[in-house]
Amino acid sequence: MLKTIILIGGPMKGTRFRPLSLEIPKPLFPVAGFSIIYHHIEACSKIPDMKEVILIGFYQPNDALTKFIHSAQKEFKLQVRYLQEYTALGTAGGLYHFRDQILAGNPDFFFVMNADVCGDFPLKNMLDQHKKSPASICGTILCTEATRQQSLNYGCVVDNKDSHEVLHYVEKPETFVSTAINCGIYLFSPGVFEPLQQIFKQHLQENYNYDPNLPSKEMIRLEQEIFIPLANTGKLYAHHTDRFWSQIKAAIYANRHYLAIYRTSHPERLAKSKEDCPTVRGDVYIHPTAQVHPTAVLGPNVTIGKHATVGEGVRVRESIILEGASLQDHCCVLHSVIGWNSTVGLWTRIEGTPNDPNPNKPFAKIETTSTFTSEGKLNPSITVIGSNVTVPSEVMILNSIVLPDKALSGSYKNQIIL
Ligand code: GDD
Ligand code: GTP
Repeated sequence: MLKTIILIGGPMKGTRFRPLSLEIPKPLFPVAGFSIIYHHIEACSKIPDMKEVILIGFYQPNDALTKFIHSAQKEFKLQVRYLQEYTALGTAGGLYHFRDQILAGNPDFFFVMNADVCGDFPLKNMLDQHKKSPASICGTILCTEATRQQSLNYGCVVDNKDSHEVLHYVEKPETFVSTAINCGIYLFSPGVFEPLQQIFKQHLQENYNYDPNLPSKEMIRLEQEIFIPLANTGKLYAHHTDRFWSQIKAAIYANRHYLAIYRTSHPERLAKSKEDCPTVRGDVYIHPTAQVHPTAVLGPNVTIGKHATVGEGVRVRESIILEGASLQDHCCVLHSVIGWNSTVGLWTRIEGTPNDPNPNKPFAKIETTSTFTSEGKLNPSITVIGSNVTVPSEVMILNSIVLPDKALSGSYKNQIIL
C-alpha cells in the first residue's frame, strides 16, 4: 500500500502572489482550471495501490481547504486529510511529528511532494526504480537539469552515473556543484524515520531549554538535516527526469505548461474553435460555466474560470481569468491574472511583462527575480489584479499589482495599488 504526503506550508509574507493568496491558501490557487495540489493528487491517484493523501501544513483549517478535500476525496476515491502543524516544522518536522498517522496501515512506501512545484510527475517510474534499488534505500529524489547559474537556487545532487546513488547533496550552494537539481518530489521507505528520529533526538539534546524565540525543537529541514548526511551511505538515490517540471513562482508559466500537458493527458479539457464559439488560439481552458462571447479571441495559454464572463471583441492571451470575473466588451488582457469577481471595463487594456525562460534554451527554468529592484522600483512582471477590483473603461494598467477590493479611477504603470 502507498500514501502521499503533500507539504503545503502556510501563510507567507509579501510576494507578487499576495493579492491572490489573501483569498485562498496558495496551494489551492487554480492553474489550468484546477487547484495547484489537485494536479498533485490527480497524479497520485493514477498509481495503483495509492490509498491516502495527507496534506501537512500550518494553515488554520479553513472552508476553502475543507471544501477542496471533500471534493478531491470524492473525485479520486482516495482518503484525503489535512494535518496541521502547530507551528512551521520545516520540510521534515511535520513528517516526523505525524509519523504514526503516516505509518498507520503499514504503507510499503510513501511519496512526499512539495506543493509549490508543477509538472508531469513520473511517479510510477520513481516507484519502479526505488523498488529495484538495494534494500538499504531510504529515499529516491526526483531530479531534473538546470543551467549552472540556476542550479544555485535549488538543492543540487551529485549521483553515481550507473547506480544513481546520491554521493553528494548541497542545498542552494554558493558555488557550482551540479546541474542535477532536486525537484521537491520524493519517494521514501519507512526506514527514513530512523534518521528522522536521530535528528529529532539530537535537537532535544542541543536545545533542552524552551526558548520561544528559537524555532521549534521539532523543526527539521529535510534537505540539510536528512539528505546531506544520507548522501554516500547507500540510502539515498536519484531518479532523473526530462519531463516538464517547474516551481510555481509564476502562475502563468505553470498555467501554460499544465495546458500543454492536457494535450496528451486530457484533450477534452482544451477548447476548440468552432462555429458560433470564440476563436481559440493554442491551448485554452474554458470552464463549462463560463460565458464567452463568440467574437472574443482567446489564447494561447489562457484559462477562463467558473462563471466568468467574457464580452464582445475581447482579446485575452497568456492570462488567468479567475472565477466570477467579468471582462467587458473589447477589453484586452495580456500576461495578467484577473482576480475573483473583478471587472475589467470596456476597451480597457491590462498588460504585464512575461518573465518566462527562453523557450529555445533546453531545461531553462524561470528566473527568480525579486518583486522590487534595488532602487525599490517594481520589477516588470505579470500584472495581478486582486479580487473584487473594478477597473474602469478605457484605461491602461501596465505591470502593476492591485490589491483586493479597489475601485480604480485611471491608468497605472509599474505600481502597487494598495
Ligand atoms: N508542512 C510544512 N511545514 N511545509 C513546509 C514548511 C513547513 O514548515 N516549510 C516549507 N514547506 C513546504 C512549502 O510549502 C513547499 O511546498 C515546500 O515545503 C518547500 O518549500 P521551501 O522550504 O520554501 O523550499 P524551496 O522551495 O526554496 O526549495 C525546495 O524545493 C526545491 C524545488 O522546488 C528544496 O527542497 C530544494 O532543494 C528544491 O530544489
Ligand atoms: P494576434 O495577431 O492576435 O495573434 O496577436 P499579435 O501577436 O499580432 O499581437 P499582440 O500580442 O500585440 O496583441 C495581442 C492581441 O490583442 C492582438 O490580436 C491585438 O489586436 C489585440 N489587442 C491589442 N490591443 C487591444 C485592445 O485594446 N482591445 C482589444 N480588443 N484587442 C486588442
